[in-house]
Formats: sequence, structure tokens, C-alpha cells
Amino acid sequence: LVLGIDSSTQSTKALLVDAETGEVRQERRAAHPDGTEVDPRAWLTAVDEAAGPLLEQAEAVAVGGQQHGMVLLDERGEVVRDALLWNDTRSAPQAEALIEEMGGPEASVAEIGSLMVASFTASKLRWVRDEEPEVAARAARVLLPHDYVSLHLAEQGTVPFTDRGDASGTAYYSTASETWKPELVELALGRSLDLPRLPSAPQEVMARTAATSTSRGGAAIAAGTGDNMGAALGLSQGEGDVSVSIGTSGVCAMVSPTRPNDATGTVTGFADATGRFLPMATTMNAARILEAGRALLGVSHEEMAQLALASVPGAHGVTLLPYFDGERTPNRPDARATLTGMSTSTTREDIARAYVEGLLCSLADGVTALEERTGTTARRITLIGGGARSEAVQQLAPAIFGREVTLAPPAEYVALGAARQAAWALTGADEPPAWELNGSRTVTAEPTPEVLEAYRVLKARTGEWG
Ligand code: XUL
Repeated sequence: LVLGIDSSTQSTKALLVDAETGEVRQERRAAHPDGTEVDPRAWLTAVDEAAGPLLEQAEAVAVGGQQHGMVLLDERGEVVRDALLWNDTRSAPQAEALIEEMGGPEASVAEIGSLMVASFTASKLRWVRDEEPEVAARAARVLLPHDYVSLHLAEQGTVPFTDRGDASGTAYYSTASETWKPELVELALGRSLDLPRLPSAPQEVMARTAATSTSRGGAAIAAGTGDNMGAALGLSQGEGDVSVSIGTSGVCAMVSPTRPNDATGTVTGFADATGRFLPMATTMNAARILEAGRALLGVSHEEMAQLALASVPGAHGVTLLPYFDGERTPNRPDARATLTGMSTSTTREDIARAYVEGLLCSLADGVTALEERTGTTARRITLIGGGARSEAVQQLAPAIFGREVTLAPPAEYVALGAARQAAWALTGADEPPAWELNGSRTVTAEPTPEVLEAYRVLKARTGEWG
């Protein structure tokens, strides 16, 4: 048995899985504080609660975690400030400044594989240097959220470690040379920090677990990875397969054999957890669009879906640009949402429809961007995440994407991917174990390209407004 953990933005999930078949045997979860700035020790309490009782039975374990978060530790390994997370946009001006200092967008992409944005760890380091110099002075080490959780599970004296997938979201790791770029930490913070050890192969055993009150210890710990890389592993995504995840953030991710190169910042050129790449288009507003619509209309999620389905494609001219809390794709950190095209006959059904269409159009833009930047047509599009449970999202996705869409059965794919990595570390084989994904189904619909077109026109117009 292997244990896969997902330390996500809101909660921690742990799956005890059969290492050979991928069958989930036990599942536990624990909530922890949510937000954009969080005491990282809360994740450790949650991981003890969710994973602790399962650890005893596991031969190997791996941790998937929210990407990019900045966990700063002092000389003694104590937390020096709350972690700033991927969804914290305060460092947008710092990201801009760093791009300039690196020599512009092309130079940023050449150095780190992506255009720097406020989500990336390096911009947060610069923010700390600018705004909290006394904190910056105390920091000795920077870790990603999943590294911090892995370290907690490891026996005393373990050197902190990470993996290439999560490292590729820091902006001080080169996806070209597959090494850290300590000079970019110095550029960001004005001084150096200890960086976690990188594996020499994705299936390397990085450490062993410590004995606890519930476990004997000694299980192998694999490198773990960022949540999106974990989900790709959990979904057994092959080259050209795209997953569209509608969670707190919206993520379109394609497994690609080649390193993408996009200086516009629409597609980030992350590495994956297998030695390939995981170009991604990430939106900051995804399931929360449905939540905002539901709350505005004062209905349940089910009623919201039924309202949306009762309107027509294009919602009688109502279009939503859903950048409620600032956006990253397109890169408009200070944006707010725009709702246009209402008449005095606009109905609640139209509003619900516009919300669902706005969500799907922003994701369709992500898929298009991936195809354009990688030069690869998406082989298969699979919808996952909480928002994918909406009946309206399921029915309208193939219409907006203009092709068949696969609905994966609801599962904790990040934790499952972490478990698959742990199983891989046990075998040490060239490729991860082949695990069957049972219960997915495909949906089709008449394409409605005019809906995406209206969205794109509005996006271009509001882009001009700044
Ligand atoms: C990806 C990103 C988010 C987080 C969510 O770049 O910022 O998907 O990983 O946990």
C-alpha cells in the first residue's frame, strides 16, 4: 500500500492506495485555514490528522501541494512569517520589476521557462525584501508548501527536498538546465537562501518517514510535487492530453514532451513530475464564479445549473468576463468582473447562463492557448474539479470547447497522483505504474462558437480600458 497526500489551499486529503492497481482503500481529510496568507504549521496539523492514521500501513508516501507558496524558515527551521500563497497578488508590482531586471519577458522565459507573475515564489521574496526587511533578514531557507509537509513526515535530520515540477513554479529554477538558479534568489531577496534538494530521477526515494505515535516509521518518501503535476499523474495523462480543472483556480494543463516558450505569460512552461513538461494556462477565477453567481441569485448550485440550462447559447446577449478577484490569464491582477449586454428583459436564467458561459469561455481560451503555444492539438480534454460537477458545466463544456469532453469520475486526483509517484518510487521502474481510471464518460454537444467570440470581443475591449 502507498499513501498519497494532497495539501491543498483549503484542506488536506490522504488516500491509502493499492500500489499495483491504484485502487483506493481508505480516504481521510482534514480542513485547515484557507486564504492567501496562512501559517504553514496549520498544514502540518491537518496532515497529522488526515494522514497520520494511514501512515502505519504505507510502504511509501508522497505529498502533492498547492504550487508556488513561499514558506520562509530561519536557521533553526522555524517559520519566520505566514506563507504567502499562489493566490496572493500583492507581489504583482514586484513581479513586474523582476521581469524588467531580468531583461524583459523573453529573458524571463529563457531563464525560468515562464513569464514571472505575482503567483510565483520569487516575486513574494522580493515583496518581503521591499515591505518586511526584518523578516527577510531572519530567513535562511525557502520551501514550497509540499516540501514543508514532506519534511514534517521525514525523520530528523532529513535535508529538505522538492521535485522539478514544483520547483519550476518558483521562478528561481531553470526548466532548460533543470537546476536551481540561486542568482535569481539573490536578485529577488538581495541575499541567498538555502534551497531544497532536487531528485536526480522522478522516482527517487528522497527520505524515510519518522516513527510517530501511530506509525513505525521507515516508509519511503518520494519527491512529491505541485498539485497540478500530481493531478496529471493521478489522471494518467499522456502526451497531448489536457485536463481542465475547475477548482479554486481554473487550470488547463497539457502533458508535453517539449518545453513550451511563451513570453506573453498566457502559458506557463512548468515541468511535470515524470520528466516531461506541463504547460498550463491558469485562471484565478474558476469554481468561485459559479459560487458568486449562485450567491447573487440566491439559489443552490443545482438550481443555478438548471437556471443556466433554461436560457439559450449566448444568454440573450449577456456576457460575463469573470475576472472577479483580479486575473492572471489574461494577466490583469487588478481587474474586476464585467457583465454586459443586459436589457430590461434579461432574466435570472440569462444571468446564470452568462456566469457558466463566462467560466467555460475563460477555460476554452486556456485550451486554445495551450494548443497554439505547444503546436499540439489537444488529444483529449478531461474535466475535473468541484466545478465540473455542475450539470450546466458538463452540458455546455463540449458546446463552448467545440468538441467532445471527457468527464472524469470525482476523485482526489492530486492525492492519487502523489500515491502513484510513491508506488513508482517503490518499483524504481522507468515509467510510473499503469493504473486504470474507471468510470469516466464522454459528452458531446452542438458547438456554439459565437459564444466564445462574444467573450473574446469583450475581453479585447476591456483590455483596452486597462
Ligand atoms: C498553478 C497555481 C494553482 C495552485 C493551486 O500555477 O497557482 O493551480 O497550484 O493550488
